[in-house]
Amino acid sequence: NLSPIDTAKFVAARRAVEYVEDGMKVGLGTGSTAAWMVRCLGELVREEGLRIVGVPTSSRTAELARRVGIKVVSLDEAKWLDLTIDGADEVDPALNLIKGGGGALLQEKIVATASDRMIVIADASKHVETLGAFPLPVEVIPFGWQTTKALVEETLSGLDVLGHSTTLRLNGEAPYVTDEGNFILDLHLKRIGNARQTSLVLNQIPGVVENGLFIDICDIVVTGHGDGRVVIND
Ligand code: A5P
Repeated sequence: NLSPIDTAKFVAARRAVEYVEDGMKVGLGTGSTAAWMVRCLGELVREEGLRIVGVPTSSRTAELARRVGIKVVSLDEAKWLDLTIDGADEVDPALNLIKGGGGALLQEKIVATASDRMIVIADASKHVETLGAFPLPVEVIPFGWQTTKALVEETLSGLDVLGHSTTLRLNGEAPYVTDEGNFILDLHLKRIGNARQTSLVLNQIPGVVENGLFIDICDIVVTGHGDGRVVIND
């Protein structure tokens, strides 16, 4: 018996794996919703003989994918993917996203960009009119991160954003470290007026590796509801 939120995530995942066809190379997202999708795909592999290879977007997802029976390869082995299915922290009406709440935004963005199509699976709570209420994750190189943080804050003051406190993501007392060995700054912005410009400008700051805004990357959003309904936007 699943809670309404888990039902929503599960029905979205189950619907999204219908896009996966035999022989495809599939990007496997990270997070609690994406984990449902990996388990659904594993079931299709084990029980229906679906032949796919998966490119995981995090060490966590790689481990889960192997455990459920999906053949895992690196992006460099796969080169280009047919489809990536991943969760999101926020989705706006133009299907632009904030991702990275789970800390995997860098690999997620690389994998989604190397795919013919990206499908986002979400529960209804992820839909927003304007991105920004969810803190925007920015992955930074550990070297000089406090200087990078100061530059990020200075840059934000010139952008169409509301509010600007910036915090270093922690894992207990120590900085949270990504799969690529970097740190994450969470930008508490409230509202991002121009997501495209914000993304471009952040990525020009030395020390910033990538940010969690996914602009023009997602093609389809599959939204699950607690009562089992699924709505598709494309
Ligand atoms: C991982 O880095 C994120 O981009 C996730 O995709 C996002 O945080 C959604 O996670 P949930 O499905 O757990 O809400």
